[in-house]
Amino acid sequence: KEAKNHIQVGFAQAMSSDNWRKEMEKGMQVQSSLYPHVKLEIKNANNNVESQIQQIHDFIDERVDVLIVSPIKSKPVTAAIENALKAGIPTIIIDRKIDGNNYTAYIGANNMDIGKDAAKYILSGIKDFTSVVQITGDIASSPARERQLGFESVLKKSEKVKLVATIHGDWEKPSVTGPLDKLLDSMTPGYIFAHNDRMAMGVWEVLKQHDLQNKVKIVGVDGLYGPNGGIQYVKDKILLATILYPTGGAEAIDLAVKIVNGEFVHKNNTLNTVVIDSVNVDLMQNQFNKLVEQQNDIEGQQQVINEQVKAYQSQNSMIKLMIGLLVLL
Ligand code: FRU
Repeated sequence: KEAKNHIQVGFAQAMSSDNWRKEMEKGMQVQSSLYPHVKLEIKNANNNVESQIQQIHDFIDERVDVLIVSPIKSKPVTAAIENALKAGIPTIIIDRKIDGNNYTAYIGANNMDIGKDAAKYILSGIKDFTSVVQITGDIASSPARERQLGFESVLKKSEKVKLVATIHGDWEKPSVTGPLDKLLDSMTPGYIFAHNDRMAMGVWEVLKQHDLQNKVKIVGVDGLYGPNGGIQYVKDKILLATILYPTGGAEAIDLAVKIVNGEFVHKNNTLNTVVIDSVNVDLMQNQFNKLVEQQNDIEGQQQVINEQVKAYQSQNSMIKLMIGLLVLL
Protein backbone atom coordinates (compact mmCIF):
# COMPACT_ATOMS: atom_id res chain seq x y z
CA LYS A 1 0.00 0.00 0.00
CA GLU A 2 1.21 3.46 -0.92
CA ALA A 3 2.27 5.51 2.09
CA LYS A 4 -0.16 8.33 2.79
CA ASN A 5 0.71 11.47 4.63
CA HIS A 6 -2.86 12.44 5.36
CA ILE A 7 -5.91 11.06 7.15
CA GLN A 8 -8.72 10.36 4.69
CA VAL A 9 -12.18 10.67 6.25
CA GLY A 10 -15.19 9.57 4.22
CA PHE A 11 -18.64 10.73 5.26
CA ALA A 12 -21.69 8.92 3.86
CA GLN A 13 -24.38 11.53 4.39
CA ALA A 14 -28.08 10.56 4.25
CA MET A 15 -29.09 13.66 2.30
CA SER A 16 -28.02 17.28 2.04
CA SER A 17 -31.36 18.89 1.28
CA ASP A 18 -32.21 20.31 4.69
CA ASN A 19 -30.46 22.93 6.84
CA TRP A 20 -29.87 20.54 9.72
CA ARG A 21 -27.73 18.31 7.44
CA LYS A 22 -26.02 21.40 5.96
CA GLU A 23 -25.06 22.50 9.44
CA MET A 24 -23.71 19.03 10.20
CA GLU A 25 -21.52 19.17 7.08
CA LYS A 26 -20.33 22.69 7.84
CA GLY A 27 -19.35 21.56 11.34
CA MET A 28 -17.33 18.70 9.82
CA GLN A 29 -15.66 20.90 7.21
CA VAL A 30 -14.64 23.62 9.64
CA GLN A 31 -13.38 21.10 12.18
CA SER A 32 -11.42 19.19 9.51
CA SER A 33 -9.73 22.42 8.43
CA LEU A 34 -8.26 22.68 11.94
CA TYR A 35 -6.34 19.44 11.40
CA PRO A 36 -3.75 20.01 8.64
CA HIS A 37 -3.58 16.30 7.76
CA VAL A 38 -7.30 15.54 7.61
CA LYS A 39 -9.00 15.31 4.23
CA LEU A 40 -12.77 15.01 4.32
CA GLU A 41 -14.87 13.70 1.47
CA ILE A 42 -18.68 13.80 1.68
CA LYS A 43 -20.87 11.57 -0.48
CA ASN A 44 -24.55 12.49 -0.35
CA ALA A 45 -27.14 9.74 -0.90
CA ASN A 46 -30.13 12.04 -1.52
CA ASN A 47 -32.28 9.97 0.85
CA ASN A 48 -31.85 6.89 -1.36
CA VAL A 49 -30.88 3.81 0.67
CA GLU A 50 -29.39 1.91 -2.31
CA SER A 51 -27.18 4.90 -3.14
CA GLN A 52 -26.04 5.10 0.45
CA ILE A 53 -25.08 1.41 0.53
CA GLN A 54 -23.19 1.88 -2.76
CA GLN A 55 -21.38 4.96 -1.41
CA ILE A 56 -20.33 3.08 1.74
CA HIS A 57 -18.86 0.36 -0.47
CA ASP A 58 -17.11 3.01 -2.61
CA PHE A 59 -15.50 4.39 0.53
CA ILE A 60 -14.43 0.85 1.48
CA ASP A 61 -12.84 0.44 -1.98
CA GLU A 62 -11.09 3.79 -1.59
CA ARG A 63 -9.72 2.45 1.71
CA VAL A 64 -10.53 5.57 3.71
CA ASP A 65 -8.89 5.74 7.13
CA VAL A 66 -12.19 6.36 8.91
CA LEU A 67 -15.75 6.13 7.70
CA ILE A 68 -18.57 8.25 9.14
CA VAL A 69 -22.15 7.26 8.29
CA SER A 70 -25.51 8.86 9.01
CA PRO A 71 -27.77 5.95 8.01
CA ILE A 72 -30.99 6.87 6.19
CA LYS A 73 -32.75 3.85 7.70
CA SER A 74 -31.37 1.47 10.34
CA LYS A 75 -31.92 -2.04 9.04
CA PRO A 76 -30.92 -1.87 5.35
CA VAL A 77 -27.64 -0.03 6.04
CA THR A 78 -26.46 -2.36 8.84
CA ALA A 79 -24.77 -4.97 6.60
CA ALA A 80 -22.81 -2.36 4.64
CA ILE A 81 -21.33 -1.04 7.88
CA GLU A 82 -20.41 -4.55 8.95
CA ASN A 83 -18.57 -4.87 5.62
CA ALA A 84 -16.59 -1.72 6.37
CA LEU A 85 -15.56 -3.13 9.75
CA LYS A 86 -14.61 -6.46 8.15
CA ALA A 87 -12.42 -4.51 5.73
CA GLY A 88 -10.66 -3.02 8.77
CA ILE A 89 -12.12 0.47 8.42
CA PRO A 90 -13.16 2.05 11.73
CA THR A 91 -16.71 3.33 11.36
CA ILE A 92 -18.48 6.10 13.25
CA ILE A 93 -22.28 6.25 13.20
CA ILE A 94 -23.79 9.70 13.60
CA ASP A 95 -27.39 10.78 14.42
CA ARG A 96 -29.36 7.78 13.08
CA LYS A 97 -28.39 4.31 14.27
CA ILE A 98 -28.01 0.93 12.60
CA ASP A 99 -29.38 -2.31 14.07
CA GLY A 100 -27.12 -3.83 16.73
CA ASN A 101 -23.72 -2.77 18.01
CA ASN A 102 -21.38 -3.47 15.12
CA TYR A 103 -19.71 -0.08 14.78
CA THR A 104 -16.66 1.60 16.26
CA ALA A 105 -18.41 4.58 17.85
CA TYR A 106 -21.77 6.32 17.84
CA ILE A 107 -22.30 10.06 18.29
CA GLY A 108 -25.61 11.83 18.71
CA ALA A 109 -28.07 13.15 21.25
CA ASN A 110 -30.28 10.81 23.27
CA ASN A 111 -33.49 10.70 21.24
CA MET A 112 -35.39 8.82 23.93
CA ASP A 113 -34.67 11.76 26.26
CA ILE A 114 -35.78 14.21 23.58
CA GLY A 115 -39.19 12.49 23.45
CA LYS A 116 -39.37 12.45 27.24
CA ASP A 117 -38.41 16.14 27.47
CA ALA A 118 -41.15 17.07 24.99
CA ALA A 119 -43.75 15.22 27.07
CA LYS A 120 -42.50 16.64 30.37
CA TYR A 121 -42.55 20.13 28.89
CA ILE A 122 -46.18 19.73 27.81
CA LEU A 123 -47.14 18.33 31.22
CA SER A 124 -45.45 21.21 33.00
CA GLY A 125 -47.55 23.71 31.09
CA ILE A 126 -51.05 22.31 31.68
CA LYS A 127 -53.47 22.75 34.54
CA ASP A 128 -56.42 20.66 33.42
CA PHE A 129 -56.79 17.78 31.04
CA THR A 130 -55.42 18.13 27.50
CA SER A 131 -55.24 16.02 24.36
CA VAL A 132 -52.08 15.57 22.34
CA VAL A 133 -51.29 14.59 18.75
CA GLN A 134 -47.88 13.23 17.76
CA ILE A 135 -46.28 13.49 14.31
CA THR A 136 -43.37 11.06 13.99
CA GLY A 137 -40.40 11.09 11.64
CA ASP A 138 -39.72 8.07 9.42
CA ILE A 139 -40.02 5.18 11.86
CA ALA A 140 -37.50 3.16 9.84
CA SER A 141 -34.95 5.59 11.26
CA SER A 142 -33.94 5.34 14.93
CA PRO A 143 -34.57 8.94 16.08
CA ALA A 144 -38.27 8.62 15.21
CA ARG A 145 -38.65 5.32 17.03
CA GLU A 146 -36.78 6.59 20.08
CA ARG A 147 -38.54 9.97 20.22
CA GLN A 148 -41.88 8.17 20.03
CA LEU A 149 -40.92 5.69 22.77
CA GLY A 150 -39.68 8.41 25.11
CA PHE A 151 -42.65 10.68 24.47
CA GLU A 152 -45.24 7.97 25.04
CA SER A 153 -43.50 6.54 28.12
CA VAL A 154 -43.92 9.86 29.96
CA LEU A 155 -47.44 10.60 28.70
CA LYS A 156 -48.61 7.15 29.79
CA LYS A 157 -47.85 7.94 33.41
CA SER A 158 -50.10 11.00 33.54
CA GLU A 159 -53.87 11.17 33.88
CA LYS A 160 -53.85 14.75 32.68
CA VAL A 161 -53.01 14.04 29.05
CA LYS A 162 -54.25 11.69 26.39
CA LEU A 163 -52.41 10.91 23.17
CA VAL A 164 -55.37 10.98 20.78
CA ALA A 165 -53.57 10.34 17.49
CA THR A 166 -50.15 9.58 16.02
CA ILE A 167 -49.45 10.48 12.40
CA HIS A 168 -46.47 8.75 10.81
CA GLY A 169 -44.61 11.35 8.76
CA ASP A 170 -41.29 10.97 6.92
CA TRP A 171 -39.38 13.97 8.42
CA GLU A 172 -40.58 16.34 5.69
CA LYS A 173 -43.49 18.77 5.61
CA PRO A 174 -45.60 17.25 2.79
CA SER A 175 -45.99 14.00 4.76
CA VAL A 176 -47.86 15.92 7.47
CA THR A 177 -50.21 18.16 5.54
CA GLY A 178 -52.86 15.75 4.21
CA PRO A 179 -53.27 13.50 7.29
CA LEU A 180 -53.34 16.43 9.74
CA ASP A 181 -55.79 18.37 7.60
CA LYS A 182 -58.16 15.41 7.80
CA LEU A 183 -57.67 14.90 11.53
CA LEU A 184 -58.46 18.52 12.35
CA ASP A 185 -61.88 18.13 10.74
CA SER A 186 -62.86 15.88 13.63
CA MET A 187 -60.84 17.15 16.62
CA THR A 188 -58.84 20.04 18.08
CA PRO A 189 -55.97 18.82 20.26
CA GLY A 190 -54.35 21.05 22.89
CA TYR A 191 -50.82 20.24 21.76
CA ILE A 192 -49.06 18.76 18.75
CA PHE A 193 -45.58 17.29 19.13
CA ALA A 194 -43.75 17.02 15.80
CA HIS A 195 -40.50 15.05 15.66
CA ASN A 196 -38.72 17.90 13.86
CA ASP A 197 -39.16 21.61 13.22
CA ARG A 198 -39.69 21.24 9.46
CA MET A 199 -42.77 19.09 10.08
CA ALA A 200 -43.73 21.42 12.96
CA MET A 201 -43.79 24.29 10.46
CA GLY A 202 -46.08 22.14 8.29
CA VAL A 203 -48.33 21.65 11.33
CA TRP A 204 -48.55 25.42 11.84
CA GLU A 205 -49.50 25.98 8.19
CA VAL A 206 -52.33 23.44 8.41
CA LEU A 207 -53.49 24.93 11.74
CA LYS A 208 -53.61 28.32 10.08
CA GLN A 209 -55.85 27.01 7.33
CA HIS A 210 -58.22 25.82 10.05
CA ASP A 211 -57.82 29.09 11.95
CA LEU A 212 -56.50 27.12 14.91
CA GLN A 213 -52.97 28.55 15.10
CA ASN A 214 -53.74 30.37 18.36
CA LYS A 215 -55.50 27.43 19.99
CA VAL A 216 -53.14 24.52 19.40
CA LYS A 217 -49.61 24.67 20.78
CA ILE A 218 -46.73 23.11 18.84
CA VAL A 219 -43.53 21.55 20.16
CA GLY A 220 -40.79 20.62 17.66
CA VAL A 221 -37.26 19.23 17.60
CA ASP A 222 -33.92 20.45 16.11
CA GLY A 223 -33.73 24.08 17.32
CA LEU A 224 -31.63 25.21 14.38
CA TYR A 225 -30.17 28.67 14.24
CA GLY A 226 -30.96 30.91 11.25
CA PRO A 227 -33.93 32.22 9.25
CA ASN A 228 -35.84 28.94 8.79
CA GLY A 229 -34.74 27.34 12.02
CA GLY A 230 -36.61 26.40 15.16
CA ILE A 231 -35.02 29.20 17.20
CA GLN A 232 -36.59 31.78 14.89
CA TYR A 233 -39.91 29.89 14.96
CA VAL A 234 -39.90 30.08 18.78
CA LYS A 235 -39.12 33.81 18.60
CA ASP A 236 -41.96 34.27 16.10
CA LYS A 237 -44.33 32.31 18.41
CA ILE A 238 -44.98 29.75 15.70
CA LEU A 239 -43.62 27.08 18.04
CA LEU A 240 -44.22 27.03 21.78
CA ALA A 241 -40.91 25.21 22.15
CA THR A 242 -38.33 23.14 20.32
CA ILE A 243 -35.79 20.68 21.67
CA LEU A 244 -32.24 21.23 20.53
CA TYR A 245 -30.89 18.31 18.49
CA PRO A 246 -27.20 19.09 17.94
CA THR A 247 -25.75 17.73 14.69
CA GLY A 248 -22.43 16.51 16.14
CA GLY A 249 -20.55 17.28 12.90
CA ALA A 250 -17.49 18.85 14.55
CA GLU A 251 -17.39 16.24 17.32
CA ALA A 252 -17.46 13.41 14.77
CA ILE A 253 -14.26 14.72 13.18
CA ASP A 254 -12.56 14.89 16.59
CA LEU A 255 -13.60 11.28 17.20
CA ALA A 256 -12.30 10.22 13.77
CA VAL A 257 -8.88 11.78 14.44
CA LYS A 258 -8.64 10.15 17.87
CA ILE A 259 -9.49 6.76 16.41
CA VAL A 260 -6.84 7.04 13.68
CA ASN A 261 -4.28 8.14 16.27
CA GLY A 262 -5.07 5.09 18.36
CA GLU A 263 -6.45 7.13 21.26
CA PHE A 264 -9.21 5.81 23.50
CA VAL A 265 -12.75 6.77 22.50
CA HIS A 266 -16.07 5.87 24.10
CA LYS A 267 -18.29 3.60 22.06
CA ASN A 268 -21.34 5.78 22.69
CA ASN A 269 -20.94 9.55 22.72
CA THR A 270 -24.00 11.47 23.84
CA LEU A 271 -24.52 15.12 22.88
CA ASN A 272 -26.47 17.44 25.18
CA THR A 273 -29.94 18.72 24.42
CA VAL A 274 -32.05 21.46 25.93
CA VAL A 275 -35.64 22.68 25.64
CA ILE A 276 -35.76 26.07 23.93
CA ASP A 277 -38.81 28.23 24.64
CA SER A 278 -39.57 31.93 25.12
CA VAL A 279 -37.62 31.94 28.40
CA ASN A 280 -34.19 31.05 26.96
CA VAL A 281 -34.56 31.63 23.22
CA ASP A 282 -32.58 34.91 23.17
CA LEU A 283 -29.80 33.38 25.18
CA MET A 284 -29.63 30.44 22.79
CA GLN A 285 -29.59 32.73 19.78
CA ASN A 286 -26.70 34.73 21.24
CA GLN A 287 -24.73 31.54 21.86
CA PHE A 288 -25.23 30.43 18.27
CA ASN A 289 -24.33 33.90 16.95
CA LYS A 290 -20.97 33.58 18.67
CA LEU A 291 -20.44 30.06 17.39
CA VAL A 292 -21.21 31.02 13.80
CA GLU A 293 -18.88 34.05 14.05
CA GLN A 294 -16.11 31.75 15.24
CA GLN A 295 -16.76 29.31 12.39
CA ASN A 296 -16.65 32.15 9.87
CA ASP A 297 -13.39 33.45 11.38
CA ILE A 298 -11.86 30.01 11.03
CA GLU A 299 -13.01 29.76 7.42
CA GLY A 300 -11.64 33.24 6.67
CA GLN A 301 -8.27 32.43 8.22
CA GLN A 302 -8.16 29.13 6.39
CA GLN A 303 -8.63 30.95 3.10
CA VAL A 304 -5.74 33.32 3.87
CA ILE A 305 -3.53 30.34 4.74
CA ASN A 306 -4.50 28.55 1.51
CA GLU A 307 -3.62 31.63 -0.55
CA GLN A 308 -0.28 31.95 1.20
CA VAL A 309 0.48 28.29 0.61
CA LYS A 310 -0.32 28.74 -3.09
CA ALA A 311 1.85 31.87 -3.32
CA TYR A 312 4.67 30.03 -1.57
CA GLN A 313 4.35 27.06 -3.91
CA SER A 314 4.51 29.18 -7.04
CA GLN A 315 7.48 31.15 -5.65
CA ASN A 316 9.11 27.89 -4.80
CA SER A 317 8.73 26.48 -8.30
CA MET A 318 10.00 29.77 -9.71
CA ILE A 319 13.11 29.53 -7.56
CA LYS A 320 13.64 25.91 -8.58
CA LEU A 321 13.34 26.90 -12.23
CA MET A 322 15.88 29.68 -11.78
CA ILE A 323 18.32 27.37 -10.01
CA GLY A 324 17.86 24.91 -12.87
CA LEU A 325 18.69 27.64 -15.37
CA LEU A 326 21.77 28.69 -13.39
CA VAL A 327 23.02 25.12 -13.36
CA LEU A 328 22.59 24.93 -17.13
CA LEU A 329 24.60 28.12 -17.56
C1 FRU B 1 -32.50 16.08 9.20
C2 FRU B 1 -33.43 15.39 10.15
C3 FRU B 1 -33.69 16.25 11.36
C4 FRU B 1 -34.02 15.23 12.38
C5 FRU B 1 -32.98 14.20 12.04
C6 FRU B 1 -33.29 12.85 12.52
O1 FRU B 1 -32.34 15.37 8.01
O2 FRU B 1 -34.63 15.06 9.49
O3 FRU B 1 -34.70 17.20 11.16
O4 FRU B 1 -33.96 15.69 13.67
O5 FRU B 1 -32.85 14.21 10.64
O6 FRU B 1 -32.38 11.91 12.06
